[in-house]
Amino acid sequence: MLVKPPLVLLSGPAGFGEWLELIDKSFIGALTLKTITLNPKEGNKPSRMAEGNNYIINRIGLENPGVLKFLEMLDTFKNLKSKIILSLGGDTVEEYLKIAETIKPYSKEFDAIEFNFSCPNVEKGGLSIVGDLQSWEKIIKTVRKILPDSFLIAKLGIEGIFVENAADILVNNDWNGITLINTVRGLHFENGKIILGGLSGPLLKPIALRAVYEVRKRFSDIFIIASGGIYNSNDAEEFMKVGASAIGIGSALFKSPEIVEEIGKKLMEVERSND
Ligand SMILES: Cc1cc2nc3c(=O)[nH]c(=O)nc-3n(C[C@H](O)[C@H](O)[C@H](O)COP(=O)(O)O)c2cc1C
Repeated sequence: MLVKPPLVLLSGPAGFGEWLELIDKSFIGALTLKTITLNPKEGNKPSRMAEGNNYIINRIGLENPGVLKFLEMLDTFKNLKSKIILSLGGDTVEEYLKIAETIKPYSKEFDAIEFNFSCPNVEKGGLSIVGDLQSWEKIIKTVRKILPDSFLIAKLGIEGIFVENAADILVNNDWNGITLINTVRGLHFENGKIILGGLSGPLLKPIALRAVYEVRKRFSDIFIIASGGIYNSNDAEEFMKVGASAIGIGSALFKSPEIVEEIGKKLMEVERSND
């Protein structure tokens, strides 16, 4: 998939494309829609987000209308005139396979399909599905068979796995890309009350850099979308240096959408100097 400039608005913070009205589209290579699941999810009760020193913690709980309602909205995305990455999630092996089957007739409407395999803020307890690599490999193999022509991306967290071992399974099953990393489980105190959620923002950056570095060291061809604490053009440059194919902007969008322009300009400069 050609993402030009190599800048992606990440799943969740990018919503269903509402930001595109505020940002010059020429800086955005692709937009990943917020994760859709087989059944609708109401999400968690407020408060759903809190800010700490150098981090954001969220417990949105994957609120979404479910895949069938989502499919009724397809025309909206055509009007966005941007490359669109669909994001799909699930709680069980069966849910991942069923949602892949459901989306199959519409798969050509999307430039890529990202499977979100890391939902640490869904309060089910235990690790994400990748924690059990055998069950996960079954999903990876079967989804590739269901969607033989799609550009498939796996979005992974870092809990319970070495991402390079998961990447091995992806490459062996002809998946095209990997988004590294998702939020990490965190705990935040708000007025003395505990909030459990997924941690994003600058605190994630060194962990995400290491994940990208390790996967790129092992695989020269896999498409890597970097995700974790990218808040300025210096952060973006560091991720490109360790082998990212594209730079993902997530919670930085909440700080100010102008960040996209700053990073987009930098990435265009780097591309020009490499030509
Ligand atoms: C409010 C919020 C909602 C999110 N929702 C999703 C989601 O639906 N699907 C997903 O794959 N990641 C989701 N994420 C994770 C982001 O896409 C991103 O991977 C993570 O926040 C790390 O990047 P950042 O530090 O730049 O925010 C969400 C993050 C935030 C802050």
